Amino acid sequence: MHPPLLVPSILAGNHARLADSAALVEQLGLLWIHVDIMDGHFVPNLTFGPGMVAALRQTSRLFFDVHLMLDEPHRYIEAFAKAGANNISVHIEPAYDHAGTLARIRALGCQNGIVLNPGTPAEAVEPLLAAVDLVLVMTVQPGFGGQTFRRDLLPKIARIDRWRRERGLDFRLEVDGGIDLATAAECRAVVTDTFVVGTSFFGAADPGEFARSFALMK
Ligand code: DX5
Ligand code: ZN
Repeated sequence: MHPPLLVPSILAGNHARLADSAALVEQLGLLWIHVDIMDGHFVPNLTFGPGMVAALRQTSRLFFDVHLMLDEPHRYIEAFAKAGANNISVHIEPAYDHAGTLARIRALGCQNGIVLNPGTPAEAVEPLLAAVDLVLVMTVQPGFGGQTFRRDLLPKIARIDRWRRERGLDFRLEVDGGIDLATAAECRAVVTDTFVVGTSFFGAADPGEFARSFALMK
């Protein structure tokens, strides 16, 4: 079982000083940062492109966990790999060659992840589980930070963990959306190991205190 990993989401950082936001994460001894890429079609919001990721790469040694919320993610894999992404996660919902795209992400030297929206059943990713490094279960409808955690998705996480154990697989199980110390504990109980935290980390009076409290979680 992977130990709990806190992954701050730079979406909730300072967009005029993204390098400072990433530096804070690194100074706290955390290892990963989550980067949300939105295209204004798959989700009703726009964020960053590969140029931002490449620029941030020059300032940071963190592991870049890049979450592509795009209608045509397969068209942008090379650009984000070249920009310095370490993991690239793609959604299952749009129609494209999922298996081929996941394989291509690995061939480019990155880890890969598959992502499910709240309304997408666990069965949708079940055939791909042996071919991924990470499964991201969205615990809000993607597009915006600061939304309320969807507790009704806990059984879906538990189900994916059960498949992981039954098949002896070792992909990470990640949650994203509305995660704070209390909801992280609920997700940990169903064996989540990777926790994306935007608002509750960067919006905390003391993000260091948040990280220290998170580290107490078993
Ligand atoms: C939502 C993004 C999340 C976002 C989470 O569409 O995928 O990564 O940053 O933000 P919080 O933690 O504020 O819900
Ligand atoms: Zn995300």
